[in-house]
Amino acid sequence: MAARSLTSHSRLLVRRLDELGRISDEPGELTRTFLSPAMERANHLVGGWMREAGLVVREDSVGNLIGRLESSRAGSPDPAALGGKGGVGRPRPAKTLLLGSHLDTVRNAGRFDGALGVVLPIVALAELRRRGVVLPFAVEVLGFSEEEGVRFASAYLGSKGYAGKMCAADLKLRDADRVSVGEAIRGWSRGAPAAVLRRNAARAPRPQQLLGYLEVHIEQGPVLEDRKLAVGVVSAIASQTRGRLTFRGQAGHAGTTPMSLRRDALAGAAEFVLLAEAFAAARSPLVATVGTINIPSGAANVIPGEAALSLDVRHPNDAACNRAVAQLVAQAKRIARRRRLALTWQPTMTHRATPCSRTLTASLIRSVRAVQGRSLSLVSGAGHDGVVMAALTPVAMLFVRCRDGLSHHPDEYAAPADLGVALQVVIDFLLRLAKDHPS
Ligand code: GLV
Ligand code: MN
Ligand code: MN
Repeated sequence: MAARSLTSHSRLLVRRLDELGRISDEPGELTRTFLSPAMERANHLVGGWMREAGLVVREDSVGNLIGRLESSRAGSPDPAALGGKGGVGRPRPAKTLLLGSHLDTVRNAGRFDGALGVVLPIVALAELRRRGVVLPFAVEVLGFSEEEGVRFASAYLGSKGYAGKMCAADLKLRDADRVSVGEAIRGWSRGAPAAVLRRNAARAPRPQQLLGYLEVHIEQGPVLEDRKLAVGVVSAIASQTRGRLTFRGQAGHAGTTPMSLRRDALAGAAEFVLLAEAFAAARSPLVATVGTINIPSGAANVIPGEAALSLDVRHPNDAACNRAVAQLVAQAKRIARRRRLALTWQPTMTHRATPCSRTLTASLIRSVRAVQGRSLSLVSGAGHDGVVMAALTPVAMLFVRCRDGLSHHPDEYAAPADLGVALQVVIDFLLRLAKDHPS
């Protein structure tokens, strides 16, 4: 890519990320959650950019935005369709490469997490079009409607819907307003949720139709910055379990109940928060986080009768992750018993560690070396849509350096020059793949 056009394209990418980052459900901060009004506006904006780049755009019934660019290939004979010796077969449809990430965000988010992996491929495809390059495979750019798990405490609803992997249990999850996923989908697509799932499963691409899935994402950690590299390549995504721990005691009057007679659910939860922190700190690379505590009917003058907290546990190794979850829940039970509280544990999601595809990643590494000189492999502690897509097709991921490793925060930042490097890598990757899969 000529230096001039790289600059103008990374500038375009920055402008678009800024514009998308202003679309929010909350004034003064960036928050977009599953099937919310802001998600509808985001799909409209990004869909327009897709159309400009020559993609045919649709939304599926769970709010995913899908832009498709057909291949140049007129069709080569399909061996399975060849009728005997020398027969003329039906054209074999070209395979599809998927590129994408999520358009939803955490609350008070930064503007790169997810959005980068949707907007960057659109700019890359526009650049290839400008150069007159026609790829010998089809491309789909995917803007998933839900990855963060903010609204329903369970992540990947978008990619699961796209891949035909959303199940009846997902439909029953409820948000803070007691609206279920099924009801939210009914409102969005005006279809019965079970029928929506069946239709999605029928429409989901089959593995044999796909070349793979590439996701570009900010690193959300400090390693690339430390190694002074703009981009790196993901080797695997860590194992992850999320769930809800609920401590139940006795609500009562804050002025009249002596300390020795209390069964304070929040005090038990607080003890657990500190225990989980110390537990994970002593077992690196394990990480454990309590991100929310909910006290129903909480008030300054009421002893908390119930405290529900979220627990998120991750480790690169499945067995270590599962073991840690079991030990943490056992510790929570011990705390509850000592404080005469009841305890329930409700897991809301479990994902095994996901290795990236060796073949697709090898191509990506070649592209990174061609652009950056050297490549670095990293394990992702963050979850990504690639976890779900890996059940469908080989997955590769490119990480982009972000300032101070900061993410899930409004100050999240990736430098335009680094975005330019990522753009060059993706273009090189597409051209490389085109060479490997000629018409
Ligand atoms: C997604 O951002 C996650 O890793 O929680
Ligand atoms: Mn993300
Ligand atoms: Mn995120």
